[in-house]
Amino acid sequence: MSLKHCIKVDDFSGNEIIDLFNLTAELKHKYRTKEDFRPFKNHSMAMIFAKPSARTRVSFETGFSWMGGHAIYLAPQDIGLGKRESASDLAQLFSRYNDLIMARVFSHSDMLDFEKHSTVPVINGLTDYNHPCQILTDMFTIWEAKQKNINDLKVAYVGDGNNIVNSWIRLASILPFEFTCVCPEGYEPDPETIKFAESKNLSKINITNDPIKGVMNADVIYTDVWASMGQKEEIDERIKIFSPFQVNDSLSSHAKDDYLFMHCLPAERGREVTDNVIDSKNSVVFEQAENRLHTQNAIMVTLCDKL
Ligand code: CP
Ligand code: NVA
Repeated sequence: MSLKHCIKVDDFSGNEIIDLFNLTAELKHKYRTKEDFRPFKNHSMAMIFAKPSARTRVSFETGFSWMGGHAIYLAPQDIGLGKRESASDLAQLFSRYNDLIMARVFSHSDMLDFEKHSTVPVINGLTDYNHPCQILTDMFTIWEAKQKNINDLKVAYVGDGNNIVNSWIRLASILPFEFTCVCPEGYEPDPETIKFAESKNLSKINITNDPIKGVMNADVIYTDVWASMGQKEEIDERIKIFSPFQVNDSLSSHAKDDYLFMHCLPAERGREVTDNVIDSKNSVVFEQAENRLHTQNAIMVTLCDKL
């Protein structure tokens, strides 16, 4: 069996992603009905966190223990990644102890070092460049809400062209849909990632600085914090720049009536999104957050060939 990792969404092909969604739906049912499912009995996973987390930590730990395994949480101060020890040495070390490595780090190059030096599957739990578990979950949430019909889907992301957006754009290189990133000038997503996805000629990718044009007739409006982890000191400056990009009732009125409002969370309510929108009937943010658990269970089962 060849070693598989989940470092970016396009580590899977389009067909593999649809298989992953079917498996996610199956595992969601099993989890909700508290079925006995223990493919990871006698297995352990090291979870390395260089940044804070609520969803990623709790969903991985809960999911892996439900599947019979033991997940070990390593906080930023435990590891001292890059200061106490390098990613390459940690990858070799944990490959001896554990069956899986999950890591959340600042620099994407540390994630690539984990991938290169690990002899067990590595799962990316977010870097400054991307967040594949989140975006696979997000598309699963849409696929489920739209009864598997994701043809002609228009996704509008409003806000900073950050790690979430890079993952959406990479997803557009393997699944066909229309993706629009609406952001202030100077906050566009990574140009190399756009070029890469466009070279696949599968999806339409638009980048615009005009919020109304960007969300017009959208099936999904997605937003994220204006300053990501590692940028929080820029928040006062960013509030001034990003306020025309707030997702509120006025902006969302330009999307389709049955649009889905999505956010990876944590949300800074009253900044990138108003309470009215995030608490509206269009919002699926907590279904989306729950689906992290089920999608990641499917990812772990797939990478470790536990079917
Ligand atoms: N969406 C997400 O990854 O949340 P956490 O930062 O709380 O893990
Ligand atoms: N863009 C955000 C996502 C948090 C899940 C961050 O990196 O902080």
